[in-house]
Amino acid sequence: MRSLSLLALFLVACGRAAPSGGAEIAVEGAPPIQVETLRTRLVPVSVDDPYERRRVRFLTVPAVELLDERFGPGWREADEVVFGCADGYRAGVSVERLLRHRAHLALAREDADFSVEKRDGDEVERVPLAPAYLVWEPVEGGAEVGWEWPYQIVSIEIASEAERYARMRPPEPASPEVARGFATFRTECARCHSINGDGGRVGPELNFPASITEYMDEAWIERFILEPRSVRFRTAMPGLSKHVDDRETRARELVAYLRAMAGRKLPPGEE
Ligand code: HEC
Repeated sequence: MRSLSLLALFLVACGRAAPSGGAEIAVEGAPPIQVETLRTRLVPVSVDDPYERRRVRFLTVPAVELLDERFGPGWREADEVVFGCADGYRAGVSVERLLRHRAHLALAREDADFSVEKRDGDEVERVPLAPAYLVWEPVEGGAEVGWEWPYQIVSIEIASEAERYARMRPPEPASPEVARGFATFRTECARCHSINGDGGRVGPELNFPASITEYMDEAWIERFILEPRSVRFRTAMPGLSKHVDDRETRARELVAYLRAMAGRKLPPGEE
């Protein structure tokens, strides 16, 4: 039964997979990466894939090598590399982590078409990965499994912390509670949500023109952050990670931060 349903999923995914010809990845301030031109230099790498939860071999280009080629060595002085995905997800990966560990841009999979099986509870979905997927070689203790593994990467940007979060910064002076909420927002929320237009686009903008705290009761926002499905049936919002310490306090601080931002609305700039 199980193999039958997996086969069915696989067939559906094949029908949906985007054609790989002509795919490109936009690069800020440089010509786009034409995926086809990288195919001659692919190297197989085995990783512990966090979606399939097993070892998978991909055909890859080393991320640091590619970044050096595209941006020159200057990118190594920045804070973050932001990988933009087809659905608006924005994964910020620290430059320090990229230099210390071995990340690769995967462009194909060795044993199957270029996709992974993503599990969400009992649901299994076959997700296409093209144009590119960021994978990490195993590190001690398996910590890399909790890092960002963005797929369907369509853009790469180099960002300084100040630049990337300028529009998300709370008004000064910020209380310690608001400052902690801002810190949590950056690590846990900004990849999917924007504030004043900056950030990810998987979820809705939370500050402009109306702040979420102006039209949703704060106790309900807290509850939504902690257990989204206790508020909305089948919502796509994942909820604050169970790995975050003292989740109730963090949720309260997040709401304090969102409330503070209601006093600092900036019209999103032209994109
Ligand atoms: C993986 C992407 C993702 C992450 C990470 C994420 N969200 Fe969401 N969020 C969504 C999506 C998608 C929706 C819309 C779902 C819905 O309306 O039910 C949403 C909805 C919301 C809403 C309701 C907005 C409205 O107007 O209805 C709030 C508030 C919210 N998220 C806050 C947060 C906070 C705070 C964090 C960080 C702890 C966070 N989200 C992390 C994807 C995400």
